[in-house]
Amino acid sequence: MAKNDNLGEAKKAKNDEFYTQYGDIEAEMNAYVEYNPDVFRNKTILLPCDDPEWSNFTKYFSSNFSRFGLKKLISTSYAKGAANNEITLFEMESPLFDEEKHESRGKLFTLTRDKDGSGNIDTDDIEFSGYLEGDGDFRSEEVKKLRDEADIIITNPPFSLFREFLAWIMEGEKKFVILGNMNAITYKEVFPYLKENTSWLGYKSLNIDMYFSVTDEYKKWLVQNKKEGSAYKIIGDVVMGRLASACWFTNIEHGKRHEWLQLDTMAHNLKYNKQLKKKLEEYGCETYPKYDNYDAIEVPFTECIPSDYDGVMGVPITFLDKYNPEQFEVLGATESEGKGFSNGLWNGDISQAIVNEKRVYKRLFIRKKGENAQ
Ligand SMILES: C[S@@+](CC[C@H](N)C(=O)[O-])C[C@H]1O[C@@H](n2cnc3c(N)ncnc32)[C@H](O)[C@@H]1O
Repeated sequence: MAKNDNLGEAKKAKNDEFYTQYGDIEAEMNAYVEYNPDVFRNKTILLPCDDPEWSNFTKYFSSNFSRFGLKKLISTSYAKGAANNEITLFEMESPLFDEEKHESRGKLFTLTRDKDGSGNIDTDDIEFSGYLEGDGDFRSEEVKKLRDEADIIITNPPFSLFREFLAWIMEGEKKFVILGNMNAITYKEVFPYLKENTSWLGYKSLNIDMYFSVTDEYKKWLVQNKKEGSAYKIIGDVVMGRLASACWFTNIEHGKRHEWLQLDTMAHNLKYNKQLKKKLEEYGCETYPKYDNYDAIEVPFTECIPSDYDGVMGVPITFLDKYNPEQFEVLGATESEGKGFSNGLWNGDISQAIVNEKRVYKRLFIRKKGENAQ
């Protein structure tokens, strides 16, 4: 294969063939169950990018089927994905198994009953319900029908189709928990939902790296082309893909989004916060500066949001990790992140936020809620 083709393949794999670890799924779902123990009771969950052979989402929800009181679990797999290289036991042992279709069709797996009479509904009871007409693309009519049948959509979708995937969920007006990239926060197809509090970030903190299983081909590519600790890490003796910016997006409640962020006064932060002092020195300012081109003050770190300022503040996008909608409202984002996002706060030519002629990174505009906020 030519070098460029290899690179193209690797890039595609990087985007779309990152497999989520069981522990990461468990840690995230625990937060929803902790907030509402009945969150999954009598619900149909669709895992639309998940072959049971590979997907820990399928493993996790089938293992917890009885405990959660699920009504039905549906998993579909995509014929063009790496998972299709393997024939699952569920598929092979089924009278519906067809080697030719295995190659070209998406697959449908369901779990509803105690098939093996073990007294428990679990992973062993997953049934291969046959091949889809097409390749299992979530955008197909047949997978849309499954979406419409489901109450909740949960998965790590192909990163390259994240915008479309979220739109697909929203079109179906479904509950969801999906993995994405932190950068998606400011996509024009995503940010309005976060601003309006119809979606929010999941439980996992943004500053925690995530590690994913990757295909053998991509492992090789990572080891040859990247430094350990950057795009990958060897855990045990397995090469795992690393993402520093992975985060969950959801519209299911969890406790963290109702925790109050402890704030100090401006004077306290200016006196004691070393990071803030250093940043203000870089800007050539003695206090929280006002942007040259937005009607808001710059707060370079979420931990420095002052308790005694009631106007509009520009904060890093990682603020959303600490966002409690009872404490703050999100007013907008810098215009560089999408047309019409600044909510009238922009009054310059350059859409990125500027402090003393220095451009700063992406910012969200927020304001404290409460009697004193203007
Ligand atoms: C990031 S991987 C995650 C896989 C699995 N959900 C997990 O977390 O382990 C995304 C998966 O979506 C599949 N996929 C890619 N394009 C798709 C499409 N258009 N429709 C459905 N699945 C797709 C890929 O083959 C891949 O298995």
